[in-house]
Amino acid sequence: MHILSPLLHQSFDSLSRKYGPIFSVDFGSIPCVVASTPHFAKLILQTNEQAFNCRYESMAIKRLTYDASLAFSPYGDYWRFVKKLSMSELLSSRNINNFQQLRLQENHVILKLFANKAKSYEAVNVTQEFLKVTNSVISKMMLGEAEEARDVIRDVTEMFGEFNVSDFIWLFKKFDIQGLGKRIEDLFLRFDTLVERVISKREEMRKNKGIVKNKDKEAGTEFRDFLDILLDCIGNEKSEVKIERVHIKALVMDFFTAATDTTAISTEWALVELMNNPSLLQKAREEIDKVVGKNKLVDESDGPNLPYLQAIVMESYRLHPPVPMVARRCVKDCKIENYMIPKNSLIFVNTWSIGRNLKYWDNPLEFDPERFLQNSTDSYIDVRGQNFSLLPFGSGARMCPGINLTMRLVPALLGAIIQCFDFHVLDSKGDIMNGGAIDVNERPGLTAPRAHDLVCIPIERIGYHGPLETLGC
Ligand code: HEM
Repeated sequence: MHILSPLLHQSFDSLSRKYGPIFSVDFGSIPCVVASTPHFAKLILQTNEQAFNCRYESMAIKRLTYDASLAFSPYGDYWRFVKKLSMSELLSSRNINNFQQLRLQENHVILKLFANKAKSYEAVNVTQEFLKVTNSVISKMMLGEAEEARDVIRDVTEMFGEFNVSDFIWLFKKFDIQGLGKRIEDLFLRFDTLVERVISKREEMRKNKGIVKNKDKEAGTEFRDFLDILLDCIGNEKSEVKIERVHIKALVMDFFTAATDTTAISTEWALVELMNNPSLLQKAREEIDKVVGKNKLVDESDGPNLPYLQAIVMESYRLHPPVPMVARRCVKDCKIENYMIPKNSLIFVNTWSIGRNLKYWDNPLEFDPERFLQNSTDSYIDVRGQNFSLLPFGSGARMCPGINLTMRLVPALLGAIIQCFDFHVLDSKGDIMNGGAIDVNERPGLTAPRAHDLVCIPIERIGYHGPLETLGC
């Protein structure tokens, strides 16, 4: 235990350099296996997928996900049912398209805020504002309204990544020696109160007005949000799986935790890397000028025509995967090459480490989007779980179902921001940084955000008022 730091993926990275591409380490009474190469990642996540298709549930995860979430439930009938439902009713291409206008409006909110702050030369906490955008987008897609859940969600993801001695050392199972139990209960209450309020309000609305539909004015079509679909499932005798209120709460928690932090983190890492590499920022802007022009704001429809911007996002996933390790639980004894992995072992595929390994990437610590452009040897690599040297969204049946949403949201938000603004970055004392790089330290947790919030004064770019004018700025 003493050799592990709170940034577990970094400790495991150092250990893999000493002990090799696959090694075991005991967390108290629980055996863990750490894999740090594309070869072993493939053997675990693809070749022997059936042995590793569940996740480990700590005391905190069990309680905070109501022991009924999609992300943490065992591979089986319930998982299959909620996965299918989520894919068809929340994350299908049709649904992602339905909510495009909503995402655009959320982007406009942050751009207007930056424009106002630029006018008054005031600082803005960019980290918090990105979280507000992603929280609002996922909240409106799921619940039909912007529910302020980002604070509780960040606390939850941090709690998921915390090491609880009682989980790992059987002797302490009954004792809460770190006081985590009390913090878990407090967090549970905060989230439960929030989600209970939203569900009750919707039930009341359904009683009074019937089912309320959203309208896509441009397409002239109507569609419903996820909460309505889930409420329909309650008491549905024909449903393959009996859905109750607790399942709805679990799914709401699931999507808030899985989507909010990760998407905001990846946008921030990409922006920080561009701030630290002005020549790359310049190149991205030249591409935007050429493809989008100086009078229109970058939006999701521009994404496919901006390969350099896409390459920046990919490079950011390589160097700063928002989920640094794919964590699974072994459900049956499994032999991998000469290693026997016992049932119930915890498995970590260290994607963070693979992304920084000289064996798989040239100059791995350099932020170089060019490596993902045509004519580069790595240009064929994508992030959809088939290339095991780049796994920001995992791989196989338990791979991230939010990838399509994220791959549209992040480039559009990042592109619009760098199109319109420069930034004066503030240091920890609140002074404007004069030269020097913005720090790229990480904070512990299930995700890997930057250690310190990014606080900046936005500066409107000269000659780029056109896109902002379309927003009435
Ligand atoms: C940059 C953004 C994101 C990153 C880097 C990310 C990454 C991941 C990773 C690494 C996993 C585990 C995959 C595995 O075990 O193989 C995962 C699972 C998951 N993600 Fe994401 N994710 C992101 C955004 C989203 C979004 C936007 C949503 C939903 C709206 C989402 C929903 C989920 C869910 C529900 C799971 C659990 C799937 C299951 O166990 O079957 N994620 N994500």
